[in-house]
Amino acid sequence: MSATDSLKQHPGLIPPPEEFIKNAAISGMDAYYALCAEAEQDYCAYWSRLARKHLAWQKPFSVTLDESNAPFYKWFEDGTLNVSFNCLDRNLENGNADRTAIRFESDDGEVTSISYRELHKKVCELANGLKSLGVGKGDRVVIYMPMAIEGVAAMQACARIGATHSVVFGGFSAKSLQERIIDAGAVALITADEQVRAGKTLPLKAIADDALANGGCESIRKVVVYRRTGGAVDMDVTRDIWLHDLMANQSSECEPEWVSAEHPLFILYTSGSTGTPKGVQHSSGGYLLWAALTMKWTFDLKPSDIFWCTADIGWITGHTYITYGPLAVGATQIMFEGVPTYPDAARFWKMIEKHRATIFYTAPTAIRTLIKAANAEPAMHPGQFDLTSLRLLGSVGEPINPEAWMWYYKNVGGARCPIVDTFWQTETGGHMISPLPGATPMVPGSCTLPLPGIMAAVVDETGAELPNGQGGLLVIKRPWPSMLRTVWGNPDRYRAGYFPEELGGTTYLAGDGAIRDKDTGYFTITGRVDDVLNVSGHRMGTMEIESALVAHALVAEAAVVGKRDATTGEAICVFVVLKRSRPAGDEAKQIAKELRDWVGKEIGPIAKPKEIRFGDNLPKTRSGKIMRRILRVLANNEEVTQDISTLENPAILEQLKQAL
Ligand code: WT7
Repeated sequence: MSATDSLKQHPGLIPPPEEFIKNAAISGMDAYYALCAEAEQDYCAYWSRLARKHLAWQKPFSVTLDESNAPFYKWFEDGTLNVSFNCLDRNLENGNADRTAIRFESDDGEVTSISYRELHKKVCELANGLKSLGVGKGDRVVIYMPMAIEGVAAMQACARIGATHSVVFGGFSAKSLQERIIDAGAVALITADEQVRAGKTLPLKAIADDALANGGCESIRKVVVYRRTGGAVDMDVTRDIWLHDLMANQSSECEPEWVSAEHPLFILYTSGSTGTPKGVQHSSGGYLLWAALTMKWTFDLKPSDIFWCTADIGWITGHTYITYGPLAVGATQIMFEGVPTYPDAARFWKMIEKHRATIFYTAPTAIRTLIKAANAEPAMHPGQFDLTSLRLLGSVGEPINPEAWMWYYKNVGGARCPIVDTFWQTETGGHMISPLPGATPMVPGSCTLPLPGIMAAVVDETGAELPNGQGGLLVIKRPWPSMLRTVWGNPDRYRAGYFPEELGGTTYLAGDGAIRDKDTGYFTITGRVDDVLNVSGHRMGTMEIESALVAHALVAEAAVVGKRDATTGEAICVFVVLKRSRPAGDEAKQIAKELRDWVGKEIGPIAKPKEIRFGDNLPKTRSGKIMRRILRVLANNEEVTQDISTLENPAILEQLKQAL
């Protein structure tokens, strides 16, 4: 029996449509297993073959993988290439010059299209402009931009001149922006006058001014400002320059800076379980290889596709599946400035209908929000729109619950489109575990099987592999090309956080729990095993939020835990002890509001706690350690069944059970 046939025997599996299998890049499970076997047999030969086939090299590499300084792996290191050349020039040469690269829809519905030729020109002009400011290879450039073609162009322009970009999501505060600028040691900042979302503007330039004025950002020599709205901004004539002025009179050709495959393409900050956000550093060659390959494998991208990833370029999903992956394979994509619920909750469906999108990639939290809206108001139901252009759906960022999966499958995909539930992380650069749409039979709620060449496993605390059916830690046993290379400026944190000694020092620890199905071997992600929360697919460190809270004058102590939430997956719940007596009634509500706003200002609106509870104290062990696992139980309004005999002050639990 073939592998495909044997999987078909399992009840509950949803096979991909025959038509899809027939035309897919990886067609059928036997093709999937053949690729896995190729990787298993000769790992380096496998990756070498793919890297030669899917990327354009200026100078080919001779060594595929250098493990001599593990876990600081090097891929294709003596090969040279340019990422922007691969994304743009390659498309001018292969007949895609006049193809639409990006069809951008603004918050208010205005559409702007740009061809590969035009995007190439824009990127070259901006790259030359940056060079004229003295920005060059190895410099860091922070990008604090709204969703805009210019945001993609800014990233590509950095890649073109060998500058390493660090995009900071537009929803982060001045303080968060400042911290990232300082950590990256950036020489330039690219921002916009304002960002527009759901009809409201956010003054990005003013926030950036704040960040720079706070001190510590002296490394920034120039600030480039994209005019999005024309709203009022203060321009410091010695430091600030309009993006259109910078680009004017620049040559529309810019010779790419050829860099080693290991050259840092970007740093992207993400939350960990301890301390400040870490700068996840990605490479040029290995990263781009996987961005391009997963476009072809997971998304089965064809020339006729209209691809739409709804993520923001401020997150890894936007980096890999807006800025780099789609352009590297010459796709036509939709880019959206706004939010799914404006002007109403049918915005996504209207946009799919209008642009005839064929591949749609979004987050479970968005799906759950739109399910609620469709239930409340029939006019918002996807069934009201012509979504027949769709042929493939994707999910990313958090576990998708089977109910949301089925709704997405039936109502958006018309029970015709496979769903790729893609598990990956900022650190992995691209998809790690996901169904292949023309091969893998699907199970709602499971991300199924690792992509060919990704050696994922479930292990215990000692690194021993667990049998199927037993939950444990998700690891990846061998390095892969698009993995992070280090934590910017902090190699010890890279080693300790991702390659712990207990697991042997060379096994990548994802930070998620996972379990494999007894019969199929399919992976299901059970959630983070560290102090990282996932709120609406946004990753938040509990420690960061705690530090922000204790920086408030009223707060003596704070503990942050995750609480289950039907829409956002997890919600932030905080337990606070004030320096004064425990507040009650209206006063408690007012202080809670003040603290929420405070966190919003310190970190960004995405970190605002959903719930705040006040206590005279927090549950602690006799050695003074806060027992967060008990707080988690309380936050979820469950009965405490754990052993509390080691608690110093069990009486406090009654007080903390009560929500405001
Ligand atoms: C964390 C990574 C992946 C890019 C966007 C988020 C969770 C991500 C899935 C999925 C279950 C998922 C994990 C992971 N996660 N995708 N398909 N199923 N969980 O990147 O901000 O680095 O967050 O998101 O917990 O560790 P990120």
